[in-house]
Amino acid sequence: MCGIVGYIGDLDAKEILLKGLERLEYRGYDSAGIALRNEKGITVIKEKGRITDLRAAVDSTVLASTGIGQTRWATHGVPNQTNAHPHQSTSSRFTLVHNGVIENYHNLQKEYLQDVQMISDTDTEIIVQLVEKFVNDGMTTETAFRHTLSLLHGSYAIAMLDADEADTIFVAKNKSPLLIGVGDNFNVVASDAMAMLQVTNQYVELHDQEVVIVRKQAIELMTLDGETIDRAPFTAELDMSDIEKGMYPHFMLKEMDEQPGVIRKILQAYENEQGELAMDENIVNAFNEADRLYIIAAGTSYHAGLIGKHYFEKIAGIPVEVHISSEFGYNMPLLSEKPLFLFITQSGETADSRQVLVKIKALGYPSITLTNATGSTLSREADHTLLLYAGPEIAVASTKAYTAQVAVLAIAAYVVAKKRGKTVEIDLKKELAITANAIQTLVDSKEEMEQIAHEFLAVSRNAFFIGRNLDYYVSLEGALKVKEISYIQAEGFAGGELKHGTIALIEEGTPVFAIVTQQAVSLNTRGNVKEVVARGANPCILSMEGLEEENDRFVLPKVHALLTPLVAVIPLQLISYYAALHRGCDVDKPRNLAKSVTVE
Ligand code: F6R
Repeated sequence: MCGIVGYIGDLDAKEILLKGLERLEYRGYDSAGIALRNEKGITVIKEKGRITDLRAAVDSTVLASTGIGQTRWATHGVPNQTNAHPHQSTSSRFTLVHNGVIENYHNLQKEYLQDVQMISDTDTEIIVQLVEKFVNDGMTTETAFRHTLSLLHGSYAIAMLDADEADTIFVAKNKSPLLIGVGDNFNVVASDAMAMLQVTNQYVELHDQEVVIVRKQAIELMTLDGETIDRAPFTAELDMSDIEKGMYPHFMLKEMDEQPGVIRKILQAYENEQGELAMDENIVNAFNEADRLYIIAAGTSYHAGLIGKHYFEKIAGIPVEVHISSEFGYNMPLLSEKPLFLFITQSGETADSRQVLVKIKALGYPSITLTNATGSTLSREADHTLLLYAGPEIAVASTKAYTAQVAVLAIAAYVVAKKRGKTVEIDLKKELAITANAIQTLVDSKEEMEQIAHEFLAVSRNAFFIGRNLDYYVSLEGALKVKEISYIQAEGFAGGELKHGTIALIEEGTPVFAIVTQQAVSLNTRGNVKEVVARGANPCILSMEGLEEENDRFVLPKVHALLTPLVAVIPLQLISYYAALHRGCDVDKPRNLAKSVTVE
């Protein structure tokens, strides 16, 4: 987590850095800081809290055309002003921002810095203190920088200033994302292209263990050993409207509204010249050759994976296991003879999932990453990438990426089934188009959802979500949405499972949301609703047209039985949004969370 930026050019760096950090706030937002360099030296400003707090602390009269900045999600050391970045060496000559975790910082401290009084509790400070030590020992800054990097174990995206070298930002990357943006008479550094889109859309990708000397007129890319690397910039396919809220009060609301368009875009992206659903033949072959698919993911992406299992087993006839990435890597089950690993990750940066990818690659197994982020770490490191085409998702709570994941998983299962010569009963292209229209109807039903949120969640301490079969997976996702943004203790359960223990928690008025879209189990779920109502629960039944009964609270527009997760999740997203609003929570940036979870 954390996001870093840097600027060197002729303009006022302060505003460019602050704007960049605002765009990176999704990566962490418990403290932030910038360092500005001008002819008088380096000024560091850092604050606990959000970028707005940092903005308020910045002296607008300090003018500088070089600077670096960071927004933090604390790993080592509590979020306070001292632990906020930038960090400085004892003499203040070197100033550094970092995204990542230095695993061996204790050992390095013992080995090289016994005499140095550390200022902060962070692992980051070790880097800047080591550079100073090696420079004091006689190395040039560049050599000391590269030597320090060669000692680090862990992940880093780093930008560093040297008070004695006015025209340079020293940059390096290992495992944490980092790009260099190039321009006319200026260059920038950013964890994500969207941070610097206002100044350039030309970026040079950095690979692990690479170093860049960034100057106003040129960048010098090299290996840790100092060998020069040539790499052409690419054009970031991003539009300012993708990354601005526009008329919306929150990114989450904008992103929920974008969902019908995302499904339609996916349909176009996965269509061949004959207008049939299709995907890269190498990917289809990889699925086809596997005797078992292992889906690896975390959080919302894991919930999409559960639906993916249903699709691959029911449509394509491939057995599937779905695993939480943080568990799988350290407790690997017995694998089949020809496994294929599918990593589902919106950001493509989730460290828990990446450690699994590293391990299964070492074992020689094939992999595919399903992601929203072209060029992300998991995309680059897997054998193949399937893209979501959802556009940047900025709200921390995932909405459109989830629906995109479910839609692409359905298409993948469908295309693989065709390749295998299976009889496929669903006309998926047509049914997904119908589903996009149904999602539109639902996102247009905001008033009703706001009413439900108010009625059921305005004051409750807890809430339950139940369903069976595909509805169970949607219940898990609905509960996660509610808890992460409104801080209500919400749990998703298989309808039949409540009575095996959890029903003890039902009290007078406990909200229980029940999802009823699967005909085969609809009466069973309704039976489970009766059980909780008999114990005082306040039920909110969301049923599908054709399965509705008199007292159901909301009827979902009818879609194909396999695609119901795509519509059933929409009211739950909206309800969680309005519940969070009612409770005065920060919808886009819930406490303790970050969008890209780049630590294990
Ligand atoms: C919840 C949410 C998280 C992510 C999880 C994995 O709304 O967004 O649960 O799904 O952190 O992230 P990715 O998909 O980027 O690997």
